[in-house]
Amino acid sequence: MTPNNWTIADIPDLTGKTIIVTGGNSGLGFESVKAFAWKGASVIMACRTVAKGEDAKKQIVKFLPSADITVMRLDLTDLESVRDFVSNFKKNHIRLDVLLNNAGIMMVPYNVTKDGFESQLATNHLGHFALTGLLLDVLRNTPKSRVVNVSSLAHKWGEMDFNNLLYENGNGYSPTKAYSRSKLSNLLFTYELQRFFEQHKIDAISLASHPGLSDTNLANHLVKKWYFRLLQPILFRMFQPPSMGALPEIRASVDPGASANEFYGPGGKRQMKGYPVTVHPKMKAHDKESARKLWEVSEKLTSVTYS
Ligand SMILES: NC(=O)c1ccc[n+]([C@@H]2O[C@H](COP(=O)([O-])OP(=O)(O)OC[C@H]3O[C@@H](n4cnc5c(N)ncnc54)[C@H](OP(=O)(O)O)[C@@H]3O)[C@@H](O)[C@H]2O)c1
Repeated sequence: MTPNNWTIADIPDLTGKTIIVTGGNSGLGFESVKAFAWKGASVIMACRTVAKGEDAKKQIVKFLPSADITVMRLDLTDLESVRDFVSNFKKNHIRLDVLLNNAGIMMVPYNVTKDGFESQLATNHLGHFALTGLLLDVLRNTPKSRVVNVSSLAHKWGEMDFNNLLYENGNGYSPTKAYSRSKLSNLLFTYELQRFFEQHKIDAISLASHPGLSDTNLANHLVKKWYFRLLQPILFRMFQPPSMGALPEIRASVDPGASANEFYGPGGKRQMKGYPVTVHPKMKAHDKESARKLWEVSEKLTSVTYS
């Protein structure tokens, strides 16, 4: 029986498990690292700024001295950094029970990464696609491993346009459209990855989650905008604390009752708040043709081939 008011108290013992959390130094990722470490997992906090990761680790170790947390550098906007991260990880690890693809940016102005990709798709999808593909052998060698992608309610407004996936030269770019596209991509990738696992008889499952609305650092760059200031009092009433917002991704990562293709989100009104339950994305997230195209273009752009 899976409880409806699932909390971190329902996490089983995670001793012996290895878990990578991208963006583990802040917000939902930080809460996830804390919960996994509390239950005995060996956690890799993958951060773009190591100093921020070390500060975050210190905060956890202060109240949980036994926490087994390793901070490692990972910049998802830089494929070289993704490759370095994976090769450093493989020097010390032969198993990976959970890859929690949590890191993200939201609604930033048009920007291009070192590799030439629009920054929201690069961080939220392409970097994680490359990371997962490069870790595939370790996931394959770990029985019952999991990949969890963190999406958003914003996937509902996402549209895939494979003629202009990266908003070349800023054409057609809007911060909201690009964020929604990246979050729809997280779901398309989740389901295609599960099909890949099944086709290749890999003992792993692919799942997704979304946090509803949670008060983290994600919108910090918007705070000065007039419309954000106007909406702030309403938004803050709608937000749930990161400790609640992280529950869907934590549940997807470690609830023994969770299964392939499940999508966890808050069970309250309009999925904005509440305890984590399985929810359903918009039908377009299940579009196999879009998922296949996204996979093909992601392999091409990142030069990471799944096999
Ligand atoms: N909060 C919400 O209401 C909400 C709603 C829907 C979906 N989400 C999703 O939840 C996930 C976590 O976000 P959050 O709310 O916890 O926000 P957050 O507090 O801003 O945390 C985001 C994390 O991602 C990291 N990150 C950003 N760019 C990166 C890069 N290039 N390489 C590696 N790490 C990078 C950040 O690092 P720095 O600390 O160095 O910036 C930070 O650790 C995101 O995928 C977001 O889209 C959040």
